[in-house]
Amino acid sequence: MAEFIPVEPFDIVIFGGTGDLSRRKLIPALFHRYLDGQIDASCRIVGVARSEMSKSEFVEFAENACKAASENWHRDDWQNFAKLLEYVAMDVTEEGADWDPLKAYLTDDGRPRVFYLATTPLIYVATCEALGRAGLNTPNARLVLEKPIGKDLESANAINEGVGAVFDEHAIYRIDHYLGKETVQNLLVLRFANALLEPVWSRNAIDHVQITVAESIGLEGRADYYDRSGAVRDMVQNHLLQLLCLTAMEPPNTLDADDVRTEKIKVLKALKPFTAETVGADTVRGQYEAGLVDGEPVISYLETLSDDKPESKTETYAALKVEIRNGRWADVPFYLRTGKRMKSRKSNIVIQFKATPHRLFDNADRVPNRLVMNLQPDEGMRLYMQVKEPGPGGLRLQYLPLNLSYAENFTLRYPDAYERLLMDIVRGNLALFMRRDEVEEAWRWVDQLLASWAETDQPLETYAAGSQGPTQAAVMMDRDRRTWWQ
Ligand code: BG6
Repeated sequence: MAEFIPVEPFDIVIFGGTGDLSRRKLIPALFHRYLDGQIDASCRIVGVARSEMSKSEFVEFAENACKAASENWHRDDWQNFAKLLEYVAMDVTEEGADWDPLKAYLTDDGRPRVFYLATTPLIYVATCEALGRAGLNTPNARLVLEKPIGKDLESANAINEGVGAVFDEHAIYRIDHYLGKETVQNLLVLRFANALLEPVWSRNAIDHVQITVAESIGLEGRADYYDRSGAVRDMVQNHLLQLLCLTAMEPPNTLDADDVRTEKIKVLKALKPFTAETVGADTVRGQYEAGLVDGEPVISYLETLSDDKPESKTETYAALKVEIRNGRWADVPFYLRTGKRMKSRKSNIVIQFKATPHRLFDNADRVPNRLVMNLQPDEGMRLYMQVKEPGPGGLRLQYLPLNLSYAENFTLRYPDAYERLLMDIVRGNLALFMRRDEVEEAWRWVDQLLASWAETDQPLETYAAGSQGPTQAAVMMDRDRRTWWQ
């Protein structure tokens, strides 16, 4: 049984409390932490939104959210948890907004106060300024910012400046929920708690790395946001780059937030920028057409958008060949790809080792070892090796995995990434959150990619919904005599 160490009592205010993130992730995450005894009964969870809603309507909204997210629903548990909930209807950006009703719910004993901005980034700065005017930027306050933090370096700077004028950097928690996923954290354990990997974790033994985050879902009612962002801003700038950083970074001195974040930034700074000369060969952008996902017909991206955008060129897929310019990774490409409406939901990191230098078994191909880390679903790791097929009559080789499956080894319920991240915020542990310079460095590199695409008018490839993505992505690998791991 896992042991959950309770966190100190805290209050949390969720701006955008009736929104999608609050419903799907935040309230269920708090409910599950409560069920495991991590959250004290004196905690306050206050939803804030513009909608005029009574407390009981908000409690009903939260109940439906938790029911949808929980396998074992018990009315008694729910009724106890519901006592923690409060609701305040207000427009936080309005000049004369009355903050007194919200303040009245907050406990005045110096406990951590978490202000979670689950709203559009367009009002991050205005909300922080209002929090400041209301005197709520106290030393015990913690500010949580959801991605996207801006849409480019300039807008990210503006947000960081604006929120930084009200809250100290050490009080700002910039979330990338991929960092709260179990298997993503396991990457750190795998790399740094197993002595056998470090000597081979470099250009000496590794041929290349592939990072895939494929989704079978489409826009999920977020067409407006998504069409302004595209796959690079929505997924690469944050989740894929974070996975790349954890795979490629040097061992940090300690697990302290700044030690870990400093190592990740070094990787971001070492990324080779794309240019108009390289972007054509080293990247693919695509958009899905109609197709079949899980046997169900799916309409094209363009048809999902409202009628006024029949010509949208937004990418729903991107594949990139990335170079890290440092001693460990020189000449080891990192291939990244992500897409919506792909064949299945599958995220993994594949470390492909070099083939044996000499062909000893002349009836066998020199198939290289691969370490495949499955992030979702089927969390676990497989180390693919060549083994002898049993039986007489010569040596026949088979390519089989040493299999470390999480489902087979751990019977625990998998906590959602937000559960861990919320508890880390209360504990004041910043290690899994992005520092200002990290976000900005990632945008600097992404801006360069997007500018190169714009400069060269990079073609938009198409792919059928339910497929593996545009064929151009396979061609890109083929050019390097490599293939994507399927
Ligand atoms: C979000 C993106 O950050 O991550 C979404 O905005 C995407 O477009 C989601 O679907 C994927 O998260 P997960 O945890 O389902 O892999």
